[in-house]
Amino acid sequence: MHDFDTNTFRQVLGSFPTGVVVITAAGEEGEALAMTVGTFVSVSLDPPLVGFLPSKTSSSWDAIRQSGKRFGVNILCNTQEDVCRAVARRKKDKLEGFDWSPTEHGTPKLSDRIAFLDCETENIYDGGDHDIVVGRVLSLESVPSTLPLLFFRGGYGSFRPGSMAVEAGISGKRLAELDCLRPHIERLSSHLSLEVTAMCRVDEDLLTVASAGGSNRSVRVPRIGRRVPFMPPIGGVFAAFGGPEAESEWLRNVHEEAGGADRETFAEVLQRVRDSGYAFGFGHEAGKAIEVASLAANETEAPEQRRRLNRVIAEAGLSFNTAKIEREEEYEFHSMTAPVFDADGACAFSLTVWGSKAAVRGADVLAVADKLTRTAESCTADLQRAGRKL
Ligand SMILES: Cc1cc2nc3c(=O)[nH]c(=O)nc-3n(C[C@H](O)[C@H](O)[C@H](O)COP(=O)(O)O)c2cc1C
Repeated sequence: MHDFDTNTFRQVLGSFPTGVVVITAAGEEGEALAMTVGTFVSVSLDPPLVGFLPSKTSSSWDAIRQSGKRFGVNILCNTQEDVCRAVARRKKDKLEGFDWSPTEHGTPKLSDRIAFLDCETENIYDGGDHDIVVGRVLSLESVPSTLPLLFFRGGYGSFRPGSMAVEAGISGKRLAELDCLRPHIERLSSHLSLEVTAMCRVDEDLLTVASAGGSNRSVRVPRIGRRVPFMPPIGGVFAAFGGPEAESEWLRNVHEEAGGADRETFAEVLQRVRDSGYAFGFGHEAGKAIEVASLAANETEAPEQRRRLNRVIAEAGLSFNTAKIEREEEYEFHSMTAPVFDADGACAFSLTVWGSKAAVRGADVLAVADKLTRTAESCTADLQRAGRKL
């Protein structure tokens, strides 16, 4: 029937990378039964079904099946190789030494995980020497800023995207241009060891359309796909380099709580941005406040979150593009942004370098400015070269 042996089969199928989950269930005395599985799969959206394929000879699967219909799916994160190995190897007390607690359905849930699904077995189908278990999801949750553990050709690894780009929300032309930008963004991010993002103007907003170097930080949610309003003091690059219409739209959006700053002040700010070729924000508190408020506003449709975001941005008022950067001074460097122009000369994107928490010497901030503006110029040159084809 076939001309390969089991080893070849294993080896070739190992070329397909998978995530790793620990299937759990409560034993008779409430003890944790567990099994490491690489065959977890999402099956159906409506009804919500998932599946996994345990070996018919597995004693762990036998115990889980005997325990009843409930089972938990713990999707492991990239720091949990030890859990994966221990659960795959041990014959009993598989979760000993690892933190877990029972869910409301009694299923053991690991304290560390990237996601957890509480399930009930719906059907068990025959799959050769394995069973195909399909379960209905009763509840689920995930930890968005964590990365998953991956299994590939018998070894473990992690997922570390060079850069991520949005799928929707911008025109096909801008998406094609974004592909030209991504290698530049990745290079700059790895050179500076800082997160670099690209933004576009969409409707009344600024949308983060690509990001590099940010997702390997454990406690941050990627900025990708996030929208913020086009209003002072943010988005200054689009106002400074986007022509008179963009400038007056931005200045019209000056908020009443902009720390006493009026349109005239912000018009001067724009002149400074045009003169230097970049915009910047200093002040970790102001930066963090915008970050937290923008995350909240993007997670719900609630208008009060949006109003709060507008107020927080306005309050950051004059922490952007204020002083001349002195080489010997120290700054709380939050962000720095430069424009990228398309083949028609329109300001199509802005590139932003996001600072770390440390205080940074002015000379180093200026070095970032130099690298950022050079990168933005290379992006512009690429878009102009590609312009005829896009
Ligand atoms: C990364 C990884 C993925 C695995 N995936 C599966 C799987 O999908 N199905 C399965 O039956 N066993 C899988 N195993 C093996 C089981 O975890 C476990 O070693 C096996 O069930 C041990 O046999 P026992 O249950 O009789 O103790 C996997 C092991 C590892 C390390």
